[in-house]
Amino acid sequence: MQRKIKIDASKVIATPNPRMWGLFFEEINHAGEGGLYAELIRNRNFSESNIPEGTIISGTTVLTVTGHKETFNPEPPLPGWKLHVSPGGDAVMSKITDNPRNPNCPEQLRLSVIGGKATLYNSGFWGFSVCKSGYRGFVIARSNGIGEITVGLARSSGAVLTSAKISGITDTFAKFPFELDGITATDARFFIAVDSPGTLYLDFVSMFPKDTYKGRENGLRRDLAEMLEGLKPGFVRFPGGCVVEGINMQNAYHWKKTIGPIEDRPGHWGLWGYRWSDGMGYHEYLQLCEDLGAEALYVCNCGMSCQYRRGEFAHGDDIDVWVEDALDAIEYALGDTSTKWGAERAKNGHPEPFPLKYVEIGNENWGEEYFKRYRKFYEAIKAKWPQVILIADCRVPDAPMDMVDDHYYTAPPAMPLMYNKYENAPKDLPVYVGEYACNADVGYGNLISAISEACFMVGMERAADVVRMASYAPLFCHVNDRKWPVNLINFDRDHVFGLPSYFVQKMFAESLPERVVYADCENAVQNGDGLYVTAGIKGDSLILKVACYSAKDLTATLEIDGVKTECTADVALLSGDSPEATNSLLYPEEVSPAYYTIDCGCGSELTFPAYSLTILTFKIKK
Ligand code: AHR
Repeated sequence: MQRKIKIDASKVIATPNPRMWGLFFEEINHAGEGGLYAELIRNRNFSESNIPEGTIISGTTVLTVTGHKETFNPEPPLPGWKLHVSPGGDAVMSKITDNPRNPNCPEQLRLSVIGGKATLYNSGFWGFSVCKSGYRGFVIARSNGIGEITVGLARSSGAVLTSAKISGITDTFAKFPFELDGITATDARFFIAVDSPGTLYLDFVSMFPKDTYKGRENGLRRDLAEMLEGLKPGFVRFPGGCVVEGINMQNAYHWKKTIGPIEDRPGHWGLWGYRWSDGMGYHEYLQLCEDLGAEALYVCNCGMSCQYRRGEFAHGDDIDVWVEDALDAIEYALGDTSTKWGAERAKNGHPEPFPLKYVEIGNENWGEEYFKRYRKFYEAIKAKWPQVILIADCRVPDAPMDMVDDHYYTAPPAMPLMYNKYENAPKDLPVYVGEYACNADVGYGNLISAISEACFMVGMERAADVVRMASYAPLFCHVNDRKWPVNLINFDRDHVFGLPSYFVQKMFAESLPERVVYADCENAVQNGDGLYVTAGIKGDSLILKVACYSAKDLTATLEIDGVKTECTADVALLSGDSPEATNSLLYPEEVSPAYYTIDCGCGSELTFPAYSLTILTFKIKK
């Protein structure tokens, strides 16, 4: 079949939002805990075995009032912590809540040493990272009779790699900072050693690498944050996802409990099966947006917990409490320092407002219960913050909507077939494709899933007057806790890799045109197989993107009208040896773009490899 790719650069078909491609961050798969959030100590406030808020437990099942069940094992009481006692010694560790330093975070580890040497080991999040720059941390402790402890990192054999003494512990809780040298061993564990009899009460133990992203205290893992930078995100959506809703209203995202000193944040059970410290809280999310040069998109709870999990709904005055909560969140981000929450932001180290631009009212909520709450939130927020763009979870009848959020998870080849989904959509309702990924029948993500998404992204770019924003989901996955089948960026404690989809996202972000122009490929797409094309102008360049969704290489002749181009093109090509080809911890760039220049212009015949994305950039002649 003779194919022609026709471009008419004089016909503008859409003007994209320059911040169209963004990020979706949710605490799932240990994305933050043991991931982007650089805290190294697991269960630092000893609350990890607490049952989810507002549930009752029977055996290993917890139950919400609406009858939703989750598997939950409260044993051991102190996950992440283990006690080792020297031969002939005697010591016991237990979790207690008596005489807390802060009644909102009452859990403590009590270590009673009767004789010998007692050493508490912390497992970290599947081990401790190799940090050559060293570590800093602190312990909040009190004691009866134990004035001094040693903290450090030791090999699995017990051999000490680095250590520091903490002394002056009394019967009143106090904070003891420490610093440790860097290590290169991969089998390290954090330890706290006591070699005198008495009782030690630990309220909080925290340790970070000294080298965090942008050097921030309570900061983020540099390598993972730099992967985000690589995507040049226009916006960041947080905190989810279903975690916004929770399994009931107590378990929903309560942002006010996630700000202030980290030792005073109680944390909460996240509905993806583990507890979070909330160390990466509302303030840190906003800070991340600022650090990435991205706009912030906060998803607030709309007075409904997750409807897929037998949702519980706030009623009457309780809805108003949630409306206030959303208004306060906006004030925290945008209010000046004379306001209550603006002052709180300043107290937390950021007097200037944060770049909050969007608020989504709920996540994946629908139906009459949602519609009535949505209207209430919309009215209240618009009245106070008219500049904030409000996003609805679905099309709400007879209600104003600044934007609506659509989600898509599919298998190939369904996603390529969606490429013209928004072609004729009404332009008066802007769309945010808030979650999308080709995530079924593709292992943990591979070339064919990436190219399926590229076809859909071609369609989104072509319909950029309607699709104003889009974010792939989910973003991160610790390889030791894959709760969701396919995730953009995968990591363990020391390494990271992006899926082929990561490179598709990066290639689209790097080549977003200022104007999308007419481009078509005659006889291109049949039953999903074929060439998907979009073209646009950026500065003095014409950019052509071609996603080839086909098991065979496909050839096409190029016709360019409306501009004259130089006869070379810069190429970025993502392809692989097979549709299943992918990246891994060991081979992070097995499927990654190749960049080169070719002779090419109007009339050239081009061959597009099977399952590939090609981006050609031509200089326009003056
Ligand atoms: O991205 C994972 C989940 O998928 C999100 O939490 C939810 O919004 C969607 O159903």
